[in-house]
Amino acid sequence: MRLDRFITQHTGRPEKEVLRLIRAGAVVVEGEEARENRHPVDEFTAVSVEGEALPCREALYVMLHKPAGYLSATSDDEHPTVITLIDHPLAGELHLAGRLDRASTGLLLLTNNGRWSKAVTEPGQGVAKRYLVETREVIGAEAAGKFAEGIYFAYEDLTTGPAELEVLGEREARLTIFEGRYHQVKRMFHAVGNRVTALHRESIGGLVLDAGLGPGAWRRLGGEEVALFRGARTDLD
Ligand code: URA
Repeated sequence: MRLDRFITQHTGRPEKEVLRLIRAGAVVVEGEEARENRHPVDEFTAVSVEGEALPCREALYVMLHKPAGYLSATSDDEHPTVITLIDHPLAGELHLAGRLDRASTGLLLLTNNGRWSKAVTEPGQGVAKRYLVETREVIGAEAAGKFAEGIYFAYEDLTTGPAELEVLGEREARLTIFEGRYHQVKRMFHAVGNRVTALHRESIGGLVLDAGLGPGAWRRLGGEEVALFRGARTDLD
């Protein structure tokens, strides 16, 4: 939202007056005087007008090393969810920016900022997701070509976008996909007559799972990491 509209909404002051205040340097956004109106703001932005702070939510962005056995959900009656691993007062506000199957491990991103999770997960954004995959059968020589061409998913009546397969061993590969469809990796291997036996996500876009985070451990993302995704704010933490 534009800064002037945001201030008008929260203070009831007419837009003309707000514009005058901005020009006069009486509006501070994230600790800096806002001299122009183009500054995009939302409910997570710290804005003050003539020294008075407007209401602002704390944004939380989390990188979690998901262990096997945890559900990518915010609540479930049967299985423990990944949320239970996040020991933070705002944990109850978090949602997932992309899921992993219960048995899958690796990088999971969580946030309470819906705009940011959209930028991470919307298929049109083309964010790369890189997986280490182990398979039951030997990975055939044709798999890389087929994945690059795209695999037809009859259920959705669509063909997956080009994916990159790097074969690391007879039954081990690194796969990069640029969408995130339901059980996508498993279904792609199934389509070439194979079965995934282990799946670990190494990275999402420019965010690589920290080697120092063991299974179940998490940390907050820094401002530069948050800003890696388009449409995200750069002025955090
Ligand atoms: N694709 C899958 O099949 N499973 C995952 O957990 C992630 C991607």
